[in-house]
Amino acid sequence: MGRYRGSGSASRSSGHRHHGLRLCPFACKATCLGSDPFALGEKLEETDMHLDDEGISNPTDNRPFEDVLASHLSRRGVMMGGLATAGVFMASGAMGGVALAEGAKRRNGGGGGGNPIAPKRPVIGFAPVPVADANGPEVVISSDYMWTPLIPWGTPIRKNVPAFSWPPTDASVSEKQIGIGHDGMWYFGKDKGGMLCINHEFGTTPHVLGKDIPESLEDVRIMQAVHGVSCVRIVKRNGVWRAGRSKRNRRIHGNSPVTFSGPVARSSRGDWLANQAKNPYLGTLNNCANGYTPWGTYLTCEENFNGYFGTEDADWNPGPRDARYGIAAGGFGYGWHLFDPRFDLANSDYQNERNRFGWVVEIDPDDPKQVPVKRTALGRFKHEGATVVEAENGHVAVYMGDDERFDYIYKYVSNSPWQSLVDRGKSPLDQGALHVAKFNDDGTGEWIELTIDNPVLAAVFRDQAELLTFTREAGDLVGATPMDRPEWGSAHPDGSIYFTLTNNSRRTEATAPNPLAPNPDGHIIRLVDNDGHLGDGFAWNIFILAQDTHGTEDAFGSPDGLWIDPDGRIFIQTDGTQPDDMNDQMLVADDQLEIRRLLCGPAGGEITGIAITPDRRTLFANVQHPGDGDPALTNFPAPTDGTTVPRDATMVIFRKDGGIVGS
Ligand code: FEO
Ligand code: CA
Ligand code: CA
Ligand code: CA
Repeated sequence: MGRYRGSGSASRSSGHRHHGLRLCPFACKATCLGSDPFALGEKLEETDMHLDDEGISNPTDNRPFEDVLASHLSRRGVMMGGLATAGVFMASGAMGGVALAEGAKRRNGGGGGGNPIAPKRPVIGFAPVPVADANGPEVVISSDYMWTPLIPWGTPIRKNVPAFSWPPTDASVSEKQIGIGHDGMWYFGKDKGGMLCINHEFGTTPHVLGKDIPESLEDVRIMQAVHGVSCVRIVKRNGVWRAGRSKRNRRIHGNSPVTFSGPVARSSRGDWLANQAKNPYLGTLNNCANGYTPWGTYLTCEENFNGYFGTEDADWNPGPRDARYGIAAGGFGYGWHLFDPRFDLANSDYQNERNRFGWVVEIDPDDPKQVPVKRTALGRFKHEGATVVEAENGHVAVYMGDDERFDYIYKYVSNSPWQSLVDRGKSPLDQGALHVAKFNDDGTGEWIELTIDNPVLAAVFRDQAELLTFTREAGDLVGATPMDRPEWGSAHPDGSIYFTLTNNSRRTEATAPNPLAPNPDGHIIRLVDNDGHLGDGFAWNIFILAQDTHGTEDAFGSPDGLWIDPDGRIFIQTDGTQPDDMNDQMLVADDQLEIRRLLCGPAGGEITGIAITPDRRTLFANVQHPGDGDPALTNFPAPTDGTTVPRDATMVIFRKDGGIVGS
């Protein structure tokens, strides 16, 4: 299997059964540098093969509603929950009279337009990709759209760095190229150029190295180098987006210096981060979804960090706190501990190394010298994303999911307006309170603060630092509601927060907020806080059960990536088994359940991550683990040839008529 083979003649994606409409990345004429279409551009003006934890780490019995609803909860029951929510919410009068529209209206024969105070419906007028076309080796996009590939794994982000070749053999080269496992991202720029910050969640060892496990420390270093984050300048020239040179380009990977702030960093009653080896804080790993702040920074969220740790010591067993995070001797089979003692669970010199992961990390896209900061006030769990919402009084709320079966949804609230904190040199992400969600079955819920001032928590944790280091345990103790794998959240312009709950094959009893048992296809839930985003109560309803789309042209399963545009278009990205043998896909919906399939990814790949230019004429989305690394399934983003190793890459998506993406 050779390196990515680009040539003008082979680049047109024609002649395949599932013809994907895209611009030829090789047709870049004046901007093209040599034969590699993804070579670094010239300097421009600065203007589940997914390695999820398949286990269940929550040993508690926080299922207060299972008895209430028992087994007879039906679609009708879900509808009633939604209606109750709307009533509660409208009675509260919060959020300027926004109501939670009843979710499953269309599929139960109701019509749209029944909500007199709902905002104007966004236009979703594109021709959808038919179900029948959604399972080929290449991307298939709506006939009203086109796409081009951008920054595939291995793209150099510095001058004089070799182009990608497979397999990589030099970690110092991989550290200067785009990583693998493209996931959450955000774009900080103008309509034709700016900085893209993008997560590199993971790559399997066979996909990266062409071998089952690392055979040397250099192999481990390469694996660590392809993980992390890229901040890269991208520019549009002659209609084609490509990576550009910038002093701000940087890679943050598994061995980059990082630092900590917040309660865990400043505890005097026990250091949960220190190691006997006195090694500095290094690296960010399994960077899944993301967030961005009103003060212009990028948030990258560490998810399945547990999988990188392991040990060969047969006497080592996980304690309850390790077990609660899925930390186990075998890890996910990465084998890093075989050559890097930092990841050996039994090595006493590195006993707190695993506590250094599972955080939200703040990155300044404009300052390549800034050391990424792990913000401990936001808790330690398997973070999916961090949706930052500015409340009317200038405080920020951060909504976060913990992606594990039977784990929780969280909300952090700053204790002062963000601008005043920033003006005083303090981080709004250090000064605030973390809450966990408890859903009541009547369509209401509570945000329970995770504070050492709660006697229940003070009986177990000595201080806030210990509590935050073991956030999941704190959630267990206060009776948080176990959910069906909370993934991305996003804020609708009506003020509600949507969360994808991707699936839960092991749920045996339905609850009101997780009404299917088992739940192999997932659902999307909608929350509205009392008192803007600052309240300690909320209303909720089910927006959609994915299984209700099955058998229709809107079919999807396992919703994961989520982003709602300022007009209320809900972009849904999938990660998991799809109905009708479809590949993972991206759909656009509105809150009345108009749903259209915008694109379908290549075989074996996941669609994840979303970012957009200010004019919303260009949208970026990622293909992660195309073909699960197998060139027999897809050669994305190269044209199908059956041999080229597929590479995780970003898709640049735009309407042929130049309109707003999603319309
Ligand atoms: Fe990284 Fe939960 O997906
Ligand atoms: Ca993934
Ligand atoms: Ca995800
Ligand atoms: Ca997922």
